Amino acid sequence: MALIDDLKWRYATKIFDPTIQISEENLKKIMKAVQLSASSYGLQLYRVLIIENKDLREKLKPVSWGQNQITEASHLVVFCNYTEVEDEHIDEYLELKAKTEQLNLAELKDYGDFIKEKIGNKSKDERINWTAHQTYIALGNLLAACAELKIDACPMEGFEFEKYNEILNLSEQGLNASVIATIGYRSKKDDTQHYEKIRKPIEKLFKSVSRQDHQANKSLKSNTLKSFMQALSMGFIGATAVFTSSFFQLPTWVLFLAWVSYYLFGIKPKLSLLVFVQQMLGILIAIAIQYGGSQLTHYIGTLGLPVMVFIVVSAIFYLSKVRYLNNIPAYFLGMIVWFGFNSEININSFLLLAITLVMGFIFAWLNETISKKIQTKF
Ligand SMILES: Cc1cc2nc3c(=O)[nH]c(=O)nc-3n(C[C@H](O)[C@H](O)[C@H](O)COP(=O)(O)O)c2cc1C
Repeated sequence: MALIDDLKWRYATKIFDPTIQISEENLKKIMKAVQLSASSYGLQLYRVLIIENKDLREKLKPVSWGQNQITEASHLVVFCNYTEVEDEHIDEYLELKAKTEQLNLAELKDYGDFIKEKIGNKSKDERINWTAHQTYIALGNLLAACAELKIDACPMEGFEFEKYNEILNLSEQGLNASVIATIGYRSKKDDTQHYEKIRKPIEKLFKSVSRQDHQANKSLKSNTLKSFMQALSMGFIGATAVFTSSFFQLPTWVLFLAWVSYYLFGIKPKLSLLVFVQQMLGILIAIAIQYGGSQLTHYIGTLGLPVMVFIVVSAIFYLSKVRYLNNIPAYFLGMIVWFGFNSEININSFLLLAITLVMGFIFAWLNETISKKIQTKF
């Protein structure tokens, strides 16, 4: 295979012969290979500078760890990734795709929205990293193309990218120097060309497919086992919750209402604490309705309770404007708990419901924590 021979021939050149230049024709071939590189979604979110200018390269050498290849090679190639990905970049790609494949641009709208959403979900740092990764694929192709053309190259990360961005005015163009390569012709004085390649043995670098099949089988078995253990633990915790609530004569349905709330409102202890507070406020509101309703009944008969509900529930609307206390369903769950419990107004009932709700949250948290442990440990 010619490529293997080319890859054996190439090496990261340390000393270039400064007297030999790469021809225009070969430069074009190298550029073509870079242009044909694969990139995520095909967006090619980078630019490639090919610098021949000696003065500029003299300026870049001190910020490239003083490496001689910068000035001695025929050309310096600077791969620059985009520092921001704008919707226009995706639109530009879609226009090119529509033109190339003779499609109607409108047909590509959903695809474009999908790409924009996926990229939009990344943080700024993730986007920069992501666009930088793409340039390494292009670098790989450049190295392979050079090797086939018997042109020497040295991929290089030994440079100060901030200084490159400054000297080459990259930042103001929304670009960042991610990786560079020097290309040209090896000098006879470069002893590195005679060195053996240092590479990990194939067995260490790769995993055989048959072994992977085995792994997949193993992971299927381990997933089945995990699910089984999770089911058992959930059953056990559920049973313990029922036993505890009946042992202490607590309303089991209230306990499970809290358990469900834990999962409904965010599966986080901190969020659950807030939900609990709002459910307790809901209970207090229900008590206020019960008390106020019975007072009003003396004056307006059966209308007493509905009028009280009207007043209090309208007021709850304003609670939803208070930061951290804006979970209306949690208030209603608290009210349901009180009215469902159907008790006289007294402190004991209030405390009993509070304890039951807390227990429900604790059992749900316990279930979630053990389930996660099973998921990660086995
Ligand atoms: C991303 C990257 C950055 C590199 N940076 C430098 C560099 O700054 N200077 C240098 O002399 N070689 C650099 N190298 C060359 C590696 O040291 C070299 O590829 C590696 O030792 C394997 O040797 P070979 O390429 O000669 O087979 C870099 C290689 C890669 C892939």
